[in-house]
Amino acid sequence: MTDSTSQAWAALKALDKPTLAQLFAAGDRLAAYSARLDLPGGTIRFDWSKTHLDAAHVAAFQKLAEVTGFSAKRAAMFDGEHINVTEDRAVEHTAQRGVGNEASVEEAQALHLRMKALVEAIHQGVLGEVKHLIHIGIGGSALGPALAIDALTRDGAIVDVHVVSNIDGLALEAAFRSCDPATTMIAVASKTFTTTETMTNALSALDWLKTNGVADPYGRVVALTAYPDKAVEWGVDETRVLPFSESVGGRYSLWSSIGFPIALAVGWDEFAEFLGGAAAMDRHFRDTDGMANVPLRAAFADLYYTHLRSCQTRAVFAYDERLRLLPSYLQQLEMESNGKSVKADGKPVDGPTAPITWGGVGTDAQHAVFQLLHQGTNLVPVDFIAAIQPGDDLSPDHHRNLLANCFAQGAALMAGKESKDMARAYPGNRPSATMLCDEINPATLGALIAFHEHRTFANGVMLEINSFDQFGVELGKEIAKSIVAGTASFDPSTEALLAEAGIK
Ligand code: F6P
Repeated sequence: MTDSTSQAWAALKALDKPTLAQLFAAGDRLAAYSARLDLPGGTIRFDWSKTHLDAAHVAAFQKLAEVTGFSAKRAAMFDGEHINVTEDRAVEHTAQRGVGNEASVEEAQALHLRMKALVEAIHQGVLGEVKHLIHIGIGGSALGPALAIDALTRDGAIVDVHVVSNIDGLALEAAFRSCDPATTMIAVASKTFTTTETMTNALSALDWLKTNGVADPYGRVVALTAYPDKAVEWGVDETRVLPFSESVGGRYSLWSSIGFPIALAVGWDEFAEFLGGAAAMDRHFRDTDGMANVPLRAAFADLYYTHLRSCQTRAVFAYDERLRLLPSYLQQLEMESNGKSVKADGKPVDGPTAPITWGGVGTDAQHAVFQLLHQGTNLVPVDFIAAIQPGDDLSPDHHRNLLANCFAQGAALMAGKESKDMARAYPGNRPSATMLCDEINPATLGALIAFHEHRTFANGVMLEINSFDQFGVELGKEIAKSIVAGTASFDPSTEALLAEAGIK
């Protein structure tokens, strides 16, 4: 930590911490701590007034952003500099949406044209009748497509997509039961084209096609990868290999050819709107300075709670069934990006990094985990995400109640309630932020995801870490491989488990 960074943290830690009631009593919080972004798919409102950020903290976090080089690092990302220092790579998911280094944007657009041509050929029946796609991938090669398809196909999909990630054969068997082999294509989605789960599932899917009468199973496969040569070597015809750049991180890859199943399910025009919504958020993030920058301001609140209030988790509740997979998507985005103990310069971090992201869907979560949020001993900053327009065609009672519950939770967490009976008392002064969209559509979904990507990046810059590597996932994979190969011995506990399970 440089002197100026440690001074910025010391200044933050020395500030008074007024309660939410005191902050609201002090003046018009809503004007200062909310924002509206008018985006291609409609407006998204951000309300941080129920967080503990005040003018002094915002100014001190702005100082932290300044001394950690936020503006220069943001410019470096959009310019395609190698900000992923440990892997010596650029970080170019925004180029997939048309915002970034010119050459990278051009390359991404050319690759998108290839993908569009294949998607449209399939829709037109050029590859025979295709009713189903089994999309096989894991982590970033599955979570984004699963979220977007689940959110955007509530009225039906052009092609029925099943996303399979788990190596547990039950997952693939479930997809087989829902698909007719004669009209099913397989997408093998893997940035590296080496991931054990994906390659094992892909081979089993080929077997399933073959044993069910498909004469040329490889002819039904599309490969989505940053290593096209490996896909060709594995047996996929070059015309059905959709490459993307190595500079697109796995957890940021749904905008690249990893988004092929999204485009196949919703159509190319909607996929283009999805990219367009994200691009609008990119431009906001790139071109807006200071407190008006929405992802940066959200990161200030994140750091306030982890560093100044010792919060170890943050929760996200989607008050919209279409966003039910958003919490698990954000878990990978935030925890794989910022769950680090080493700074970008190789030195140990000076404080906490990413909190544990968790969450669920409202109103279900209210009847399960909200007890802890209201009365437990952990302080948990909560994000609520909702849309004004309903996605359903049922009685308006459903959506009125959904939104009423969403807003009621934020109000209750903040206000609390006194009671002589301690078991029935609510302490209040518990923080939440609300994101309220006009509606959920491809563009607003794209913008919401891009907002979280940039928020994660802004956190990483102020934490001085590299948000774009993930070495922490490797050790467990290596050990699993050596177990399967039978080449290593382990501690007595692990050995006993292996023996009990008949693996060794
Ligand atoms: O193991 C973690 C990880 O590398 C993620 O970062 C990535 O999204 C996932 O595995 C899948 O990797 P691939 O797309 O290369 O199969």
